[in-house]
Amino acid sequence: MILNYNNKREVVALLGAGSMGMAIVERIAASRIVLLGDISEKALASAREKLEYSGYAVETMKVDASNKDSIYAFARRATELGPVMYFINTAGASPHQTNPQHILNLDLIGSAYALDAFGDVMARGGAGILISSMTGYMLPEPLPQEVEDALTITDSDKLAALPCLQPDVVSNSGVAYVLSKRANQLRVRKAAMDWGKRGARINTISPGIVVTPLAYDEFNAAGEGYQKMIEASAMQRVGNPAEIAAAATFLLSDQATFITGTDLLVDGGMIAAIKTGHYQVQLS
Ligand SMILES: NC(=O)c1ccc[n+]([C@@H]2O[C@H](COP(=O)([O-])OP(=O)(O)OC[C@H]3O[C@@H](n4cnc5c(N)ncnc54)[C@H](O)[C@@H]3O)[C@@H](O)[C@H]2O)c1
Repeated sequence: MILNYNNKREVVALLGAGSMGMAIVERIAASRIVLLGDISEKALASAREKLEYSGYAVETMKVDASNKDSIYAFARRATELGPVMYFINTAGASPHQTNPQHILNLDLIGSAYALDAFGDVMARGGAGILISSMTGYMLPEPLPQEVEDALTITDSDKLAALPCLQPDVVSNSGVAYVLSKRANQLRVRKAAMDWGKRGARINTISPGIVVTPLAYDEFNAAGEGYQKMIEASAMQRVGNPAEIAAAATFLLSDQATFITGTDLLVDGGMIAAIKTGHYQVQLS
């Protein structure tokens, strides 16, 4: 079989070649070229194989999404392949997978650098999605306004020094995750202003519990609590990566050309359950 790939086709850059990211890419990448970035060579190899067997044009790159230089190199490689129309960032680690500092470095600061790096290279008419989490809505009380402002507008290089991100405040991985995901929702507001100068849009999606390897790690560590939360939610079930991909496809499409700098909660009504007193959150 001879596959004919034109040069300089539109680029879809996916950082984090995991379940949700792949479900999104499979919906939008036909006729385009996909650049996959992930820290795991195993994840890259299996994602590449999956896409290539379905006829997609794919290039892979080992990227550490918690490292500024690595993220910028990924963005540079994307521009070499062609006009960057789509950037999807699903690289992340969950509370039971790692320590608070790693979560802050990856889910919060790394995501901020990725928004900056791709804000410099997006093609006119392009769009991006950063996967946040419903946990961004789970703070027991709203963050003080000055903390929200700092998380929104502080230069990415200075985020690590913010008082609200120091170890005495971020006491465990659960707190680090919630803060990071809230920061994701806030930082697309800042990013939208930069991306807008290039005629591109950027939004977050905040998923509820979606069955992926990452979610399995959380189930295995806190199964009973998870089960109760799922039963309390409006839809009383977990989600599937395809349901996140459906929302992402909309936000990336020409149906959403006036939507930027905002968050779409896709959680089967989990936050609805919490905000109406049907479930009480405990951060651990
Ligand atoms: N699954 C859920 O229930 C759920 C819910 C809300 C939010 N999220 C968020 O969705 C995103 C995607 O997660 P998923 O559920 O598809 O999980 P996944 O495990 O399938 O995908 C995550 C990918 O990120 C990669 N990754 C991890 N650290 C990295 C690093 N330093 N550099 C580059 N890549 C790295 C992993 O190798 C993996 O391929 C994450 O940010 C997660 O926090 C997941």
